[in-house]
Amino acid sequence: MRLLFFGPPGAGKGTQAKKVAKEFDVVHISTGDILRDAVSKGTELGKKAKAIMDRGELVSDEIMNSLVKEKLEELDSFILDGYPRTLDQAKFLDQATKELKKEIDAAVLIDVSEEEIVKRISNRRVCPNCGKVYNLITLKPKEDEKCDVCGTKLIQRDDDKEDVVRERYKVYKKNTEPVIEYYRKNNKIITIDGAQDVEDVTKELFNILRSFN
Ligand code: AP5
Ligand code: ZN
Repeated sequence: MRLLFFGPPGAGKGTQAKKVAKEFDVVHISTGDILRDAVSKGTELGKKAKAIMDRGELVSDEIMNSLVKEKLEELDSFILDGYPRTLDQAKFLDQATKELKKEIDAAVLIDVSEEEIVKRISNRRVCPNCGKVYNLITLKPKEDEKCDVCGTKLIQRDDDKEDVVRERYKVYKKNTEPVIEYYRKNNKIITIDGAQDVEDVTKELFNILRSFN
């Protein structure tokens, strides 16, 4: 199965993509996670990406395209979470998947309003050690602000401040919504109401995706 996950920042793409990856045995590729990993390791890519991400803007298509192509060459089934985010990236992906004979089965759009997103993101905490994502309201850690898996103190992402979140939302509207329209024309979009509880979104997604297997 080869899927794309779309949705505004904080819609729950990462939360749901991880569950789908486990259930359907596909690899979850999050371009945001790859960039954050590069930032924390201080690689050349990380140095280039850090300031751009902290402003809520997009890293260049050229960098993102070559990063994703490398992954696609290695994998047969995958979920792309956070890519493509621009029309140029979508065109590049189209060509790459055709060349590699790994065409996309469907694009999942998790739809959530701006106000809900700002609320969710301001309560998001992440484990800097193992990457597990929590929410102080909806997905609380068992112990106060500590990771259930590894006990590390949870942190807030640098780009999760309210003004940056609103900028990321604007960037999404301007650059990524046209990409969704592009996939809608190919009848590949599956829209899910992301305002539901995490478990209900998962249930709906699993039901739809089971018909693909
Ligand atoms: P990226 O990491 O992709 O950020 P994003 O798209 O803004 O998405 P998020 O990770 O914020 O949210 P999510 O939808 O995964 O939500 P989550 O599951 O965590 O990108 C970051 C930056 O990297 C970009 O701004 C850009 O600079 C750069 N970048 C990345 N890809 C790029 C590309 N292709 N091109 C150029 N630049 C790129 O959930 C959010 C919170 O809500 C959590 O706390 C969670 O626990 C909670 N939650 C989840 N679902 C629910 C629910 N149903 N109900 C209640 N709470 C919920
Ligand atoms: Zn952890």
